[in-house]
Amino acid sequence: MWYRFLVASLIASAFIPSLTSSQETASVVTNNTTREAYSQAIQPLATEDMQTFQQGRGLVRQSWIISPALDREIAGLGPLYNRNACIACHAKNGRGFAPDSPEESMRSMLVRLSIPGKTITGAPLPLPWYGDQLQEFGAPGVNAEGRAHLHYAETDVLLNGGEIVSVRTPRISFSNLAYGSMPDNLQTSARIAPAIYGMGLLAAIPDSTLLALAAQPKPGKIKGKVNWVWSAEQQKTVIGRFGWKANVATLREQTASALAGDMGLSSHLFPHGNCAKEQTACQQAPVSGIPEISAAQLEQMEFYQLALAAPAPRQQQQASIQRGALLFRQAQCAVCHQPEIKTGAFPRLTALGEQAIAPYTDLLLHDMGPALADQRPDFAASGSEWRTPPLWGIGLAKQVEPHAGFLHDGRARTILEAILWHGGEAEESRNMVQQMSRQERQHLLDFIESL
Ligand code: HEC
Ligand code: HEC
Repeated sequence: MWYRFLVASLIASAFIPSLTSSQETASVVTNNTTREAYSQAIQPLATEDMQTFQQGRGLVRQSWIISPALDREIAGLGPLYNRNACIACHAKNGRGFAPDSPEESMRSMLVRLSIPGKTITGAPLPLPWYGDQLQEFGAPGVNAEGRAHLHYAETDVLLNGGEIVSVRTPRISFSNLAYGSMPDNLQTSARIAPAIYGMGLLAAIPDSTLLALAAQPKPGKIKGKVNWVWSAEQQKTVIGRFGWKANVATLREQTASALAGDMGLSSHLFPHGNCAKEQTACQQAPVSGIPEISAAQLEQMEFYQLALAAPAPRQQQQASIQRGALLFRQAQCAVCHQPEIKTGAFPRLTALGEQAIAPYTDLLLHDMGPALADQRPDFAASGSEWRTPPLWGIGLAKQVEPHAGFLHDGRARTILEAILWHGGEAEESRNMVQQMSRQERQHLLDFIESL
């Protein structure tokens, strides 16, 4: 069995272009193009780092169960939760998708809730009865909060050359609301799970680089700013870089907030799980430990994600892909989706430090126009601002998860649809793609598929 993999990777590596020398020696990228493409560790990892990686992998893949349970080690799910495992939403560490119809349930996405205003830390203001996220499942004796449904209106977009692309505009509704009706001034944000590889490299980009990118003059309407978010760990406001609005400071906090918000597992960073202020049954339900996830377990989960390699680009020598790469720059995509960034020193995992990487993101917030707006501010991000998502590995998304969706709410079923939704600061880029010849557009898509 192993030799087949070896042969496959040898064949694959014959097509891999020469990467920058630092990437070759430290191998923070992977040439794996199978369904496991997003699950590879950076190479090499020291023996004890490999052990931590494996332990973290086990916890990220763990299906948690409701307390009280004999298996205390894996208990603690809920009492309110969305899914029972990280990989239920991030299947094979990849991205999630939106349901295709209102009847279908949300399998790898969630709906954030708030009312206008901010908490003392600047976070969106949670609802007293539902908190800041709708949990669709409850432990015995604790009512699930309700269900969210997505309804779509399809419209046609006409492209130069006569091609017609149908895009769908989502609308959210709720049913089975167990804690009363939603307020009139409710703010919602439906978000699919993004992929979780390459997180360590994004964490290793220095703050100073992000501030410099934000300050750089940019063509046309393009701007870009950092989000400033409250860090529970550092007890101060810092630059945000994770989440669709760069609304979370660190990978450890992102992990702890997913444990609490999505699965109801408490940790030292989020000791109270996810019961809303007025949800007494939730607050009185049994727990499996205080906290349910130890600091060591949280570190292991964080380490696993830090060490997950990003896929290397493929077939960069092909003429069509090279044409596409050029068009990508000409259409100003690269201003936001930055193809070249250098990481800084990263003591936690030194291999991630001082690397030339190609994440195709600036981690900055951009106003993407009214069509993509959720009208729900998140720290310094306005209702229409989103973090540029990294594009590395995006070409393998459907290989890893055939349903994989694009954009924050998974409305885009294809990469072309995702591009056609670009507005606001990216409106000119979008128009250029619409006006390209059919052939040019194909080159551009081939290029993105090669990442
Ligand atoms: C219910 C589905 C769901 C579950 C379960 C879930 N996530 Fe997520 N994850 C999401 C969504 C949705 C986002 C985007 C959140 C946002 O924009 O605020 C996200 C974001 C992330 C990010 C940030 C990625 C980026 O590009 O910034 C990481 C890392 C992450 N999750 C890790 C985890 C881990 C680890 C677990 C398990 C402890 C987990 N998630 C459980 C849905 C889920
Ligand atoms: C002004 C900055 C900006 C420019 C210019 C820009 N993008 Fe984006 N791009 C974004 C942001 C922000 C998002 C996320 C929007 C959302 O989720 O609602 C995004 C999303 C995407 C996605 C979907 C990614 C995912 O993870 O689902 C693709 C693909 C993409 N852009 C490609 C392009 C291409 C191709 C161009 C040039 C034609 C381009 N972008 C120009 C900022 C930009």
